[in-house]
Amino acid sequence: MIVKAKRLTKRFYEQKMEITALDDIDLDIKNGATALLGPNGSGKSTLIKLILGLLTPTSGKIELFPGINESIGKKLMRVGYMPETPSLISGVNAVKFIRHIGMISGLSYNLALQRAHEVLDYVGIFEERYREIKGYSTGMKQRILFAQALVHDPEFLILDEPTTGLSPEGRSEMLQLISEISKEYGKSILFSTHILPDVEKICHNVIILHLGKVLYEGSSSQIIKDAKKGKRIVVSTNVEKVTRDFIEHGMKVIKDWRQENAFFVRTHEKLSFSFAHEIAEQNGATLIEFRDEEVSLENLFVDRIKEEVKA
Ligand SMILES: Nc1ncnc2c1ncn2[C@@H]1O[C@H](COP(=O)(O)OP(=O)(O)OP(=O)(O)O)[C@@H](O)[C@H]1O
Ligand SMILES: [Mg+2]
Repeated sequence: MIVKAKRLTKRFYEQKMEITALDDIDLDIKNGATALLGPNGSGKSTLIKLILGLLTPTSGKIELFPGINESIGKKLMRVGYMPETPSLISGVNAVKFIRHIGMISGLSYNLALQRAHEVLDYVGIFEERYREIKGYSTGMKQRILFAQALVHDPEFLILDEPTTGLSPEGRSEMLQLISEISKEYGKSILFSTHILPDVEKICHNVIILHLGKVLYEGSSSQIIKDAKKGKRIVVSTNVEKVTRDFIEHGMKVIKDWRQENAFFVRTHEKLSFSFAHEIAEQNGATLIEFRDEEVSLENLFVDRIKEEVKA
């Protein structure tokens, strides 16, 4: 176990307004690669900052490397952190910047310098490493941020939206690096993202946050399998009557709030194109669409939120 949270709550107070960023959550983050998913404002960065001790809980408890009797300072030496907003020091080149971070993380000058060159090689920053960082492209800055998180060879890496702002090519290179670190070097990773295919490639475990609550905690293969199971159906009219009929046949229906007259039906032995066509006709409607549900995070959220509402 890498992180354990118990009844963890974090509130912010801004202009007399109270914002609950995390609302009484229990959480276990295990060894291996874990994706932290959630829409904007769901509490991902807040959770990360609480793990790192950059924020303190309003109530409840969060523990890094639970059960290990060490100071938080000592534990943090074993963690690498890539923040969501670039906090690169301007006016220095990449070698100096990363050497500096290495020394903060407890390495000697010489070792920090050697490691800086190694991690820059690793992330693919070559002769540009002697240029000032402020002139770098977004993709290069992201690599530098990734490199600084690795410099002291941490056993646990926390990456807050590492693929944000990257081109498709840059994204896939970044994912490749993260995957290698996890699979070949055996590091544990906590990695926040909005993008489901990123998760599929790298992570065994998934945590979904929504409005400061944990909506799902489990294996990524299971959630992706669940999400792939359904059909998306659109009818011309009378959607209420049509969906009621599906439900009466024992099927699970979830409304697709993005489009009128659209809904998802979970896979069921009776569910087929001709069945859906017939149900639509019987309710005075035409079947406009019947296809496999696409796996998007949005759908997963909609699903989980609906299930949550019913429960
Ligand atoms: N320092 C702060 N002061 C006031 N409110 C804050 C602060 N930090 C976060 N919040 C609020 O807490 C909630 C959760 O924010 P958080 O940054 O954790 O979300 P997030 O999931 O990381 O979102 P994003 O995907 O946009 O990065 C939001 O409503 C945010 O406005
Ligand atoms: Mg964030």
